[in-house]
Amino acid sequence: MAWSLRSLPSLSEEQFSQWGKLFEERTGIQIVFQQKPWLESQIFARMRELQYEQYDDYFAYVSNGIAGKLEWALLADKVAVKETSFFRHRDSIEYLRHYLQDKIYKNALSSSFDVWSIGCSTGEEPYSLSMVINDCFELASLNSYYGITGMDISQTALATARKARYSKRRMELVKPEEIKRYFVECADGSYEVVNKLRERICFTQINIINARQLPDVKVDVIFCQNLLVYFRRWLRRDLLNALVDRLKPGGLLILGLGEVVDWEHPNIQRTADDHVQAYLRVES
Ligand SMILES: C[S@@+](CC[C@H](N)C(=O)[O-])C[C@H]1O[C@@H](n2cnc3c(N)ncnc32)[C@H](O)[C@@H]1O
Repeated sequence: MAWSLRSLPSLSEEQFSQWGKLFEERTGIQIVFQQKPWLESQIFARMRELQYEQYDDYFAYVSNGIAGKLEWALLADKVAVKETSFFRHRDSIEYLRHYLQDKIYKNALSSSFDVWSIGCSTGEEPYSLSMVINDCFELASLNSYYGITGMDISQTALATARKARYSKRRMELVKPEEIKRYFVECADGSYEVVNKLRERICFTQINIINARQLPDVKVDVIFCQNLLVYFRRWLRRDLLNALVDRLKPGGLLILGLGEVVDWEHPNIQRTADDHVQAYLRVES
């Protein structure tokens, strides 16, 4: 039958669990049964491009060899949920503003202010952080160094992030004064982030379940929002423990609200604000 006429075949229960296991082992992402139709459509779209007829044949292709590795990267990219926006959960980002203002006020900054945005998707989160950090330094007339590293597993998301150009629709949560200060309107009606922010941010591909892929440095702030929610609880805890090791003393960790409920660490203290899920590294 011609490919264009084929209807979407259903994954058997066994096949669904085989694919689910593969995704979880390699990315940490748990795929629940309600996502089965969506998973089928994502896998089948790739099978159609490669003219595979059977899920099992395509599974064997993806699971083995160098070609399988490359194919896997494309498929994982399709399956990762990349939903994001500028100033998504503004309270978290404003919390960073207060944290940094307090450090400036107390003269407690080290030589550089380093921030990670893990699971940065198409860049809106790290650019939002850069706007707030830039505001703080400009307001204090400080020419301090800051740098942000945006990390994600998805190469397509990172490519969009590096372009730093967003349609008007994506600017909904950006305030007019922020647009004025931090974007240039392009001829096609899209908005490009200004260079002074872009040059502070680098984007890099990592798979966070392999914590050894995290750069071996210590940073002031780690944002990791709306990523851990896709992982099992034990994996969330393991990753959070690895993130604590990368925080400077007094460093700040911000997660998505409600993403983690039962995590404790001897060097970490939850902050008092109920509107954000923020933790401080307490010991030296
Ligand atoms: C829902 S988005 C969240 C984006 C942003 N942090 C926010 O809150 O708006 C989750 C991001 O995590 C990335 N991701 C999923 N699994 C990952 C992994 N194992 N390592 C690194 N990034 C991953 C996805 O590609 C996606 O861009």
